[in-house]
Amino acid sequence: MISEAAIWHDLECGSYTADLDCWRDLAAQFDGPILDIGAGTGRISLMLAREGNDVTALDLDDSLLEALRGRTGELPIDTVCADACDFDLGRRFSLIIVPMLTVQLFGGTDARARFFSCARDHLEPGGCVALAIADLLDDEDGAAGGESPQDDTCTVDGIGYSTRAVALNERPGQIGIERRREIVGPRGASAVKAATDWIDTLDEEILEAEGRAAGLTVAERRFIPATDEYIGSAVVCLNG
Ligand SMILES: C[S@@+](CC[C@H](N)C(=O)[O-])C[C@H]1O[C@@H](n2cnc3c(N)ncnc32)[C@H](O)[C@@H]1O
Repeated sequence: MISEAAIWHDLECGSYTADLDCWRDLAAQFDGPILDIGAGTGRISLMLAREGNDVTALDLDDSLLEALRGRTGELPIDTVCADACDFDLGRRFSLIIVPMLTVQLFGGTDARARFFSCARDHLEPGGCVALAIADLLDDEDGAAGGESPQDDTCTVDGIGYSTRAVALNERPGQIGIERRREIVGPRGASAVKAATDWIDTLDEEILEAEGRAAGLTVAERRFIPATDEYIGSAVVCLNG
């Protein structure tokens, strides 16, 4: 049975497709095993594995990885429940991807330094660490996550789930995406909860400097366009 965390994760992240070509291109360029950091229920791991890549999906939340394991079938995906800022897998990867602002969930400079140290130690020589980041207050495209244009909804085992981003909140060094989540039971009784994801403020220069400090080389920046629902992001690529 899928966990409630996995249902919310699928609803809030699962329909995002604007970044897939970027990860697909990088996988082709850095041909070899891929480590997907913060893989969640496997939106990107599954796509990369279906296209013939050897993928390891790492996440802090095993209930999300459990949902991913339920979807892998015969695909070559290993799952690892671990903190991205403290892991030792005893192997190296050609490409380490950190999609969808996940690096902005680590909780600040020290945590990112620990992540970069782990990533460097798991990278093949000449391999690449690629991290997608965004400035949530940059609302030029009108898609910065303040208020979703519509609810995302689904029904699982007769229970209805609906979620919508309703506000951006600020506190020092972080922006919170506040969502209104509603669950409607089979007899119509409903419960509403607020949930906030706190995102570290971060830009390309800071991330590149942190990567350099860990011994990585700045390679290139790619850009993922905004959609109606999601802000555009930059992908910082660092080589080992
Ligand atoms: C925004 S979601 C992205 C999920 C997936 N990569 C995607 O693009 O659909 C962020 C994911 O990172 C995971 N995460 C956050 N902090 C983490 C950490 N310190 N170590 C490992 N995973 C983490 C969360 O559990 C969540 O699954």
